[in-house]
Amino acid sequence: MTNKYMYFIANWKMYGDLKSVNTLDKVIKFSKSNKNNKFKLIYCPPYTLLSLFSSKLKKTNINIGAQNCHVNDGYGAFTGSVSSKMIKNVGANHVIIGHSENRAQDDTNLIINRKIKAALMNKLRIIFCIGETLMERKRKKTKKILSNQITQGLKGVKNLSNIIIAYEPIWSIGTGKIPKINSLSKDINYIKTFVQVKFKIKTVKVLYGGSVNTKNINELKEISLLDGFLIGGASQNPKNFIDIVKKTFI
Ligand code: PGA
Repeated sequence: MTNKYMYFIANWKMYGDLKSVNTLDKVIKFSKSNKNNKFKLIYCPPYTLLSLFSSKLKKTNINIGAQNCHVNDGYGAFTGSVSSKMIKNVGANHVIIGHSENRAQDDTNLIINRKIKAALMNKLRIIFCIGETLMERKRKKTKKILSNQITQGLKGVKNLSNIIIAYEPIWSIGTGKIPKINSLSKDINYIKTFVQVKFKIKTVKVLYGGSVNTKNINELKEISLLDGFLIGGASQNPKNFIDIVKKTFI
């Protein structure tokens, strides 16, 4: 049971079509009937659905985010790309940056840092993803990897109030596996302490992501330092998404 203000972020990845907007009805109803509750729901559909989702969610408390953005903060000759300015323009106020599925392509720490700065310029809140591979974990390099990702990703960022960190161990994304609760608590504590000391700030929000579902939420919610969850697969089904939120507060 938690009394904290919690984030539940739906990362839809490369899923969803025009009909998907209808799945929001249930979630809107749920959100409206729980107006005073201490949670924030954020939907991150693919770029193609940002505008549609944003119109649908306009008069609700539910927010919208994109799943990535370009390093350039405005417009430009970058075929196939979308900038944070364009994301903001269609009504989104968040953006996921540094997801491991993008790090696996061409997102280096340096590029992620540039994307974060571009998105902050456009007044978006950043869901900044970090996480280690299974090999790195086995070699006991988790702390080193996480501290590097944080140091380089947030280099030169002056104000961290619009940064939410999402810790997503790569080996737990889409695999059904989650870390042991004890070890996850320690890693979340490490991330928070590292950021607080390095950036001389009192607090930072840290979420967990990786195979969060309606069953394992009962264990995950016991980690008192967590500020919420980044949810992939399970977030596409509105009932499951709502159940995860409900169970967190039971
Ligand atoms: P998953 O994805 O919940 O399907 O593991 C999480 C994520 O990649 O953000």
